[in-house]
Amino acid sequence: MKRLILALDVYERERALEIAECTADYLWAVKVNWPLIIGSGLGIITELRQVTGLPVIADLKLADIPNTNRLIAKRVFDAGADYIIAHGFVGRDSLNAIMELGETIIVVEMSHPGAEEFIQPATDKLIELANELEPFGVIAPATRPERVAYIRSKLKPGIKILTPGVGAQGGKAGKVLTAGADYVIVGRSIYASENPREAARNLHREIAGV
Ligand code: XMP
Repeated sequence: MKRLILALDVYERERALEIAECTADYLWAVKVNWPLIIGSGLGIITELRQVTGLPVIADLKLADIPNTNRLIAKRVFDAGADYIIAHGFVGRDSLNAIMELGETIIVVEMSHPGAEEFIQPATDKLIELANELEPFGVIAPATRPERVAYIRSKLKPGIKILTPGVGAQGGKAGKVLTAGADYVIVGRSIYASENPREAARNLHREIAGV
């Protein structure tokens, strides 16, 4: 089973397509964030799906009023995104506006140190909201496997846990998967390595051994 998601945080269209194509064998999905969308336009989502045949996750961390979330999500799903990542702290109405249009992933805790300031104190409430809305999945920090284990223990079975923070941010794929994550999201350790295909293959093998 493939459990690796490539975070493709480059600006250039050609480079993005090249990296996605050469790593696709080892991936479950490709994640695009603002850098790539700003650098290459929304059409990159359509192209990535064509080139890799993999699901595309649009990590926009949407956090707006329902109408604006809906306007953005409509175009992003129309471009071919299979999932959109959204913030939960804006409330259920804002999330519902996205969920009515397509599969959604809700951030319940972030991977960087600053997440301890505002997001982590709200994690329990965000988990409750996720359990009520039943999105495809939630985002939890690979940098804190103990928090992933906690989130897994509170989350309804069936809701996937996707974890950024492996590699450049210090998280270890094996540890976070053992803690209960379903997928690991890896950016710089793959796309900034000298040989992205080999980096993805090594991670894929590490994950297969868990
Ligand atoms: P790196 O290069 O650190 O990239 O492997 C990680 C990718 O994941 C995103 N990211 C997050 N997304 N919650 C999220 O929804 C988080 O806590 C989080 N931490 C990192 C980051 O933007 C990059 O695309």
